Amino acid sequence: MEPGAQLPEKLLSRISIAKEELERSSEVRIISHYDADGISSAGVLCNAILKAGKRFHATLVKGLTEQIVQEAAEGSELLIFSDMGSSHLDAIEATGCKAIVLDHHAPLRDSDKVVHINPHIVGIDGMTSASASAMCMLFAVNVDEGNWDLLHIAFAGISGDRQAIRGLLGINKWLFEEGSKRGVIEAVPGSLYPSGKLLEGLYASTDPYIKGVSGDREGARKLLVEAGIDAEASARDLDEVQARKLSSLIALKLVEQGVPAATLEEVVHERYFFPQTGMEAGDLASLLNACGRSNNEGMGLALTLGDQDALDGARKLRAEYVDEVMTGLERIAREGVTAMENIQYFVNENLGLSGILSGVTMQYLGDRNKATIALSTHDEGVKVSSRGTFQLLEQGVDLAAAMREGANKVGGFGGGHRIAAGATVPIGREEEFLALVDGIIGKQKSKKET
Ligand code: C5P
Ligand code: C5P
Repeated sequence: MEPGAQLPEKLLSRISIAKEELERSSEVRIISHYDADGISSAGVLCNAILKAGKRFHATLVKGLTEQIVQEAAEGSELLIFSDMGSSHLDAIEATGCKAIVLDHHAPLRDSDKVVHINPHIVGIDGMTSASASAMCMLFAVNVDEGNWDLLHIAFAGISGDRQAIRGLLGINKWLFEEGSKRGVIEAVPGSLYPSGKLLEGLYASTDPYIKGVSGDREGARKLLVEAGIDAEASARDLDEVQARKLSSLIALKLVEQGVPAATLEEVVHERYFFPQTGMEAGDLASLLNACGRSNNEGMGLALTLGDQDALDGARKLRAEYVDEVMTGLERIAREGVTAMENIQYFVNENLGLSGILSGVTMQYLGDRNKATIALSTHDEGVKVSSRGTFQLLEQGVDLAAAMREGANKVGGFGGGHRIAAGATVPIGREEEFLALVDGIIGKQKSKKET
């Protein structure tokens, strides 16, 4: 989609049908994903449904199963699946219940029974150009123009799914442009250093992950001293000289760490500020993410509904989550990862940390030429989180396909996006799975070369 472009007619007509379904219902059953994008998707929907004078019952889940679909359908007037559902159209259709799917994962097929709203069906990439929350926002503003005040929630999903790192595209960009016209969103320049309190922000920084500064308050303090900045300072207190000094010192450290220019460019991407809440998209995303990844997704949803106690609670959870992430990263930096020909992997006990540890390892700690995989063993099986880079995608890598195919071959299941995907495999089959994925990615790369 070009800037200022109209939204595709096919998408708008499905949204109109979804709007009519909502108007006919008095209560909606919502099932959404538990990560930042999933919680913000549910947040946009729940707020819109409440404003329309209807009731909702929302559940946030780690993954969709046939059982969850069937149970949700029992006695429901209208089902809405957000940030999931496009891979479960068979199960959703089988319930016979009226259902809307607002997803952005590449679907295996389309549906004429379910109101299937997914950017891929109109040729828009859901990995880079439309988060699930953006799809929910599109629906919400079509239901009621007054719902533009929910844009900050939608942008937490866009930011949480790392869809702002190369500039906004597609539906995300359309929402920004329309939101700007209405004065609800402002773009602010990005920087290598965090917004807000600098000492705490540098300690908590994973994007960038600065060795000797991230996860190390003493290191962060020293960096500030070196830049001539007071340890208590906030980003907005910096004068031009201090800001430039701090940026140069961080850039130098990252270059020494072997971080390429492409990553630095991603880090300094534009940020999005919401005057109505006084928060940036990344700030709300990190709160929702901490809630979801620590099994407190309900608190995240309450936060999107404006609950002040939830905001306080989420800030506490985020502080604990940051400590855990930093401990995990420090361990990976110390112990390293196991390298195979096309992938690198590590074992991680805490499932809630797998995605972030895998992503940061991919970008800042491991070998950027090998896709990164985190393995976490649980009662239900070994949960796998994988992350890549845009450079790997250019070489032909598709992690969603690799996870799906590798997991299917060992009796598990998987999927996701080309750059970030996951799987669950039976306990004891993980080595076989890793060898399969290593081979699949090798084939993906050589296919691209020919
Ligand atoms: O289920 P969902 O699509 O919302 O999850 C995508 C996951 O992939 C998020 O955890 C997001 O942070 C991650 N991601 C990433 N790098 C990207 C895009 C997404 O790590 N470039
Ligand atoms: O759990 P994680 O954040 O690593 O998931 C990355 C992406 O892979 C998400 O979009 C998630 O929805 C997807 N995924 C999937 N099937 C799985 C596990 C994860 O589609 N079994």
